[in-house]
Amino acid sequence: LNERGAQRSLSKRKNAWRCAAATEGKQVGGKNQMLVYVPPHPLIKHWVSILRNEFSPPPMFRSAMAELGRLLIYEASRDWLLTVNGEVNTPCGVAEVEFIDPREPVKVVPILRAGLVLIEQAASVLPANQTFHLGFVRNEETLEASMYLNKLPEKFEEGARILVADPMLATGGTIVSALEEILKRGADISLIRVVAAVAAPPALKLLSEKFPGLRVYVGMIDEELNEKGYIVPGLGDAGDRSFGTA
Ligand code: URA
Repeated sequence: LNERGAQRSLSKRKNAWRCAAATEGKQVGGKNQMLVYVPPHPLIKHWVSILRNEFSPPPMFRSAMAELGRLLIYEASRDWLLTVNGEVNTPCGVAEVEFIDPREPVKVVPILRAGLVLIEQAASVLPANQTFHLGFVRNEETLEASMYLNKLPEKFEEGARILVADPMLATGGTIVSALEEILKRGADISLIRVVAAVAAPPALKLLSEKFPGLRVYVGMIDEELNEKGYIVPGLGDAGDRSFGTA
């Protein structure tokens, strides 16, 4: 191994837990552990690749983020949505059917700005949903997140299904603060799903320590952060690239 190779190998060993989580298609974590899922789907790889490309212009970047969000929300809602049974007449007979329960809308929490884009297509996957915005801004020196907008309800009712969208899980500061706000309002951690485009080991480690039982659905897990707290190789600033402010 040359020096660079040796360093990579060391960082791989340090992140051994991450490698398990990164195994595509394998759900890692039990009942009392956080579970990270990277759906092994070619479309997910495709949209992540478009996002990564520094030459994807903002409209292309935004639609790739929205498509990725739609696929991740589909995966995240697989064993989570509440249904009601019924019967309908088809042109040829009577069928037992199951509909999404309209009385139990999923509570969607986008973290501004880029979370808005990740949930842009949520309504095409979740027939019943309500959106509660959370805005965080990151101090570029300390990398600390502070909240500037909170549209969460005072209390979440028992059994509420909550979907939190934050495209980049880097240091974990923002998503941890967001989840703390949500849990303060009576949410059940096992009914929360986080969707993200790219995650890095520091955020996943923090989430797994603080929120056993949480489930995270992510397009890709990357190796590390740079000194500015950006994911490497990542995709850059998801908010700036979505809204053309880079
Ligand atoms: N936020 C981003 O938009 N990109 C990163 O890489 C990290 C945080």
